[in-house]
Amino acid sequence: MSDSDDDDVPQLSADTLAALQEFYAETGRAGQDTAKTDKFSVGAVEEDWRMSQFWYSEETASRLAEELLQQAGEHGRIACLSAPSVYQKLKQLESVRSEGVSAVLLEFDRRFAAYGDEFVFYDYNNPLCLPEDLLPQSFDIVIADPPYLSEECLSKVTLTVKHLTKGKILLCTGAIMEEHAGKLLDLKMCSFLPKHNHNLANEFRCYVNYESRLLS
Ligand SMILES: C[S@@+](CC[C@H](N)C(=O)[O-])C[C@H]1O[C@@H](n2cnc3c(N)ncnc32)[C@H](O)[C@@H]1O
Repeated sequence: MSDSDDDDVPQLSADTLAALQEFYAETGRAGQDTAKTDKFSVGAVEEDWRMSQFWYSEETASRLAEELLQQAGEHGRIACLSAPSVYQKLKQLESVRSEGVSAVLLEFDRRFAAYGDEFVFYDYNNPLCLPEDLLPQSFDIVIADPPYLSEECLSKVTLTVKHLTKGKILLCTGAIMEEHAGKLLDLKMCSFLPKHNHNLANEFRCYVNYESRLLS
C-alpha cells in the first residue's frame, strides 16, 4: 500500500486522454444539433384545441414545406399564416439555409414567439394590423391555414394574404370552403390530401392559384 493518495487515482495515457476529449467535444456538438432540430420539430408546441390547433402529420408538413421552397425559389421569401408546422418544417430543411430562403410565421399563439424575429403576432380579426417592416407584396408565396371554416374568417385572412403576397397563394382549409376560396382568392382545389396528426371530422384540402404538382 502506497502512502500517497495520488497513487490511487487511475491515470490515462496522453493519447487516451486526447481521444476522450475529442469524443466529448463531438457528442457535445451532436447534442447542440439535436436541440436545434427539436426546437423546430412539428409538435414541439402542443396542440391547444381552444385555438383551433390541429398540426399536420410529418409527411404533410414536409410536402407543403417542399412545395413552398420550390415555388419561392432561391433567396425567396415565404410567409406562413397560422401554419406553424410548415414554418417548423421549413426551418428543418437544409436546402432552406443553403438556398438563402427566409420564412416568417404569422401566428396568434404567442408560444411561437420563441422563434424570435421570425415570429409576428397575427390576429385575423385585425387583418392589416401588421408590423411596418412586413412590406406589401414582399413574399414570393404565402401559405394560410385559417383557424375557422367560415366565410367571415376567410374574408379577413384574404385581406392579409393579398397584402403580403407577390402573387402565389397556397390555402389549406376544409373542402366545404371551396366556393369561398374560388370567389375570394381565385383558388383551385388540389387533389393532394393534407393529413393531420389527429383525424379531423371535416374533409380537408389545399387550394392554389398557380401551376402546382399538388393539383394532380
Ligand atoms: C387549423 S390550425 C392550422 C395549423 C396547421 N394545420 C399546422 O399544422 O401548422 C389554425 C391556426 O390558427 C391559429 N389561430 C387561432 N386563432 C387565431 C386568430 N385569432 N388569428 C390568427 N390565427 C389564429 C392557431 O394557433 C393555429 O395555428
